[in-house]
Amino acid sequence: MMEDFRTLVLYRTSHGSTKRYAEWIADALNGEAMEATKKTSPEWMAKIQTYDFVIFGANINARGMNGLPEFKSALTRVKPKNIAYFCVGSYPAGDQPKMEHYNDNFKPGELDEDAFFYFRGRLDFIGLGFLEKRILGAYMKKIEKMYPEDRNEAEASVLEAYYDDVDWSDKRTIIPLVKYVRGFMTQEQKDAIEPIAKARMAATAQREEEEEAAWEAEMQRREELHKKNVADDEAYKLKHMKKKQREAYLAKKAAEKAAEEGDDEALLNIDETIDDYSDFEDDKE
Ligand SMILES: Cc1cc2nc3c(=O)[nH]c(=O)nc-3n(C[C@H](O)[C@H](O)[C@H](O)COP(=O)(O)O)c2cc1C
Repeated sequence: MMEDFRTLVLYRTSHGSTKRYAEWIADALNGEAMEATKKTSPEWMAKIQTYDFVIFGANINARGMNGLPEFKSALTRVKPKNIAYFCVGSYPAGDQPKMEHYNDNFKPGELDEDAFFYFRGRLDFIGLGFLEKRILGAYMKKIEKMYPEDRNEAEASVLEAYYDDVDWSDKRTIIPLVKYVRGFMTQEQKDAIEPIAKARMAATAQREEEEEAAWEAEMQRREELHKKNVADDEAYKLKHMKKKQREAYLAKKAAEKAAEEGDDEALLNIDETIDDYSDFEDDKE
């Protein structure tokens, strides 16, 4: 009887993008994804030997793969049948960052470079912790000080994400890793996995679509709320102005709007002495 091919995807993440990659990979191989924290180590260490293939994925933190020393030390006690690694960072995907991260994390001869993969994740500067902001901030300041023409592609694109939230995660980039693992399966095992993997990938895609739609709806709701607050504020101001002040204020607003729409002459009609509500606040009708 044919044995199922079982894949275990262990991961470490600081902000979730490595988890997403681990789940995409687990779907595509009909495997199991599990966070490999210190706390859960007895559990995942016990699993390592019972799977046909173990993948360890981690986010890159100041050039090092998160949790890799612990994982390597676990491997001195439990030996997986087959293993591959992936890391997730903010540099653009490509051979050069892959090899840099490979050389930073493995000694020469320690790991076949074909079993190492690099994916690009997400950088949400606002969501970082205090220490992370300090470390990354120092690196960004260094890039900021460079002449733009001296920045390489990676530096320029990481700088673009500074103070922002940029997600470069790309599901299609897992294909080489998925192919690599499938290379260890028999044709029968591949055939057995395929329909289940397809169904899992479709279910995840559907869930992600729904999450994205819910997120967009929430953003829309907040924007509407903001517009309403601005309008309410404006109405309140107008209500508390004297007639003349109100007329002057409305004339100024109309001139500003016309100027915004390209009527340069309207600029002349903007009376800078009529500023905001605070000028009128104390006036009593
Ligand atoms: C303090 C800090 C240091 C980082 N160092 C690197 C790095 O050396 N190389 C890299 O490619 N990305 C680096 N990054 C970017 C993260 O690896 C990237 O945002 C990744 O997607 C985070 O994965 P996670 O969401 O699973 O935690 C760093 C991020 C932080 C916060």
